[in-house]
Amino acid sequence: MRPHPPLAPLAPLALLAALVFWVPAGAAPAPVHAAIASAHPLATQAGLDMLAHGGNAFDAAIAVSAVLAVVEPASSGVGGGGFYLLHVAGDGHNVMVDARESAPGAATRDMYLGPDGKPRPNASTEGPLSAGIPGEPAAWAWLAAKYGHLPLATSLAPAIRIAREGFPLYERLANAIRVKKAALGNSPDAARAFLVEGEAPAVGAMIRQPALAATLGLLASQGADGFYKGVFAEKLVASVRHDGGIWSAADLAGYHVIERAPVTLHYRNATIVMAAPPSSGGIVIGEALRILEGYDLDSLDATTRHHLMIEALRRAYRDRAEYLGDPDFVKIPVEQLLSPYYAAGQRTSIRLDRATPSEQLRPAFTGDESPSTTHFSVLDREGNRVGATISVNLFFGAAYMPPGTGMFLNDTMDDFAVAAGSPNAFGLVGAEANSIAAGKRSLSSMTPTFVDTDRGALIIGSPGGSTIISNLLFGILNWLGGKSASEIVAAPHIHHQYVPDSVMFEAGALSAEERAQLEKRGHHLRESTRQWGNTQAITWDFASGKIEAASDPRGFGAGLVY
Ligand code: DON
Repeated sequence: MRPHPPLAPLAPLALLAALVFWVPAGAAPAPVHAAIASAHPLATQAGLDMLAHGGNAFDAAIAVSAVLAVVEPASSGVGGGGFYLLHVAGDGHNVMVDARESAPGAATRDMYLGPDGKPRPNASTEGPLSAGIPGEPAAWAWLAAKYGHLPLATSLAPAIRIAREGFPLYERLANAIRVKKAALGNSPDAARAFLVEGEAPAVGAMIRQPALAATLGLLASQGADGFYKGVFAEKLVASVRHDGGIWSAADLAGYHVIERAPVTLHYRNATIVMAAPPSSGGIVIGEALRILEGYDLDSLDATTRHHLMIEALRRAYRDRAEYLGDPDFVKIPVEQLLSPYYAAGQRTSIRLDRATPSEQLRPAFTGDESPSTTHFSVLDREGNRVGATISVNLFFGAAYMPPGTGMFLNDTMDDFAVAAGSPNAFGLVGAEANSIAAGKRSLSSMTPTFVDTDRGALIIGSPGGSTIISNLLFGILNWLGGKSASEIVAAPHIHHQYVPDSVMFEAGALSAEERAQLEKRGHHLRESTRQWGNTQAITWDFASGKIEAASDPRGFGAGLVY
C-alpha cells in the first residue's frame, strides 16, 4: 500500500500553472551591514577580513570554506564537496554552484555489494573506495574567477596560515576525533595530525597541519589545476589505488562544477530559493510546503500543526526515495512534485485525526553524526549572498588521508542507494534514481536556502544528513512566522523521513500534552538522546535595516555583523 496515489500525468494546463512557480526572487535593497554566520569563529573572522580588504561575499565564501577545511576537518574540506547557492546583486540572479563529488569512472552499481548481494559493512563509508571525486577545490577556483574581486591566493591565505600555525582543539572536534579514533588510527597521516598515542589530544592543544597548508598553497599558486592535474593529482590517484580505491587521473582531470538553476517557489507571500538536484532539499521542502499551503497553519493548535508537518514530510521524503537522483542521469518530475494539483492530491490522503503509517519500517536513524558537514551564510554590503553547505559526509569522511596531502577524502559514495531499499548512514532509502553509475553525483539533503518577502530576507542552512530538510522546513516557517535569527537556530527539532516511520524529536520540542495527542493520532514518537543540526542563519529586516547573524547554540560557531 502506498501512503498516497502515485504520480499521475498532469494536464497541460496544470503543468503550465506549476511552471509559473519557477520565478526568480525579487530584488532587495542594499544592506547597510555585511554579515557572516559559520560553524567556527576563525572561519567567520576570515570571511569578514576578506570583506574588509575589498572582497565581496564570494571571496568571503572561499575564505570561510577554506578555514572550515582546516578547523572543522570532520565536517568538510579540500577532499569534500557541496553546494554554493549564490545571489548576485548586480543583476539579481540566483544560481547554484554544484560542487558535489562525482562517482569515479570505474564505479559500478553493485560495487559495495558482497557475494550475497548485500552491502559489505563499511565499504561505502570508510577508506578510499568510499570517496567520490572532490568538488570543493574546483568550487573555490570557480567562485574566485567568475564572481570574486580578490585573487584565489588572497582568499586562501587565512586558511593556509591557520593550517601552518595551528588552532586550539575545541570540544566538538575532540568529540569527533574520539568517535572516529579507530578509523583515524588506520590512516598514518591522519593519526599523526589528530591523535596522540591513539587518543584525541586534550582540548586546547594546538592542531597544526603543515601538509594541508601545502595542499592549500598549491591551490593558491596554481589554481584548480594544481589539485586536479599534474604531480599532485598523480600522487593522489596512486595513493587512492594503492589503498583500495578506484580513482583515475582522468576522473580528477575531468571534474568540473556545474551551475544549475536553484529550485525557486512562491509560498504565500515568500519567494524561497533552495538547492536543486542533486540536492533533494529544495524539492522535498517545496513539496512539503505545497502540501501545507492548503491549511491555515496559524489557526491550528500546535499538535495539529505538528501532525500536518509530519504528514507533509512523510510524503515528500517518500517521493525523495523514489524519484530523486542526479538530474544529469535521471529525469526528475520536478514540475509535478511541486505542483499545487499534486499537493492537493496528497492532502486527500491526510487525515487530521490519524497518522498515515509509512509502508515499511527500517532500522532507526541515529543523530550521531551531526557534527559532520557544515553550512555558512554570507551577506555583503552590495547585497550579494552566499549560502553554502559543504561536506565530507560522515565524521572525517572516509577517515582516510592520502599520504602527504593533509586532507581527508569524503565518503559521499554512501549517499547513493548502495542497494535498492537498503538504508544509508542516515537511514535514507532510495531506488533506481539514486543508484551508482560512473560520473554520477549522489543524492544529497544539503539545502542552502534564501527566503525573501516584502519584510526582509533570510539566508539559512544546516548540516544533519537527512534531518537537514525537516530542520530547514521548520526554520523557513519560523522565520515567516516572525521569529528572529537566534530563535530560529536555537529552536528544538522535530523530524520524520517516511522510513523509519517514527517522529524523532529533541528534548523540549514537544510538550507532554502534545506527545500524548500525537501518539493518540497514531504517531510513533522517539525522543532523541542527542541534538542534531548546526544551523547558521542571517536575517535582514528591510524596514529597520537590522541584520542579525546567528550561529546554532548546539555548535561552536559565530555569527558576526560587520
Ligand atoms: O549530502 C548529504 O546529504 C550528506 N552527505 C550530508 C551529511 C551530513 O549532513 C552529515 N551531518 N550530519
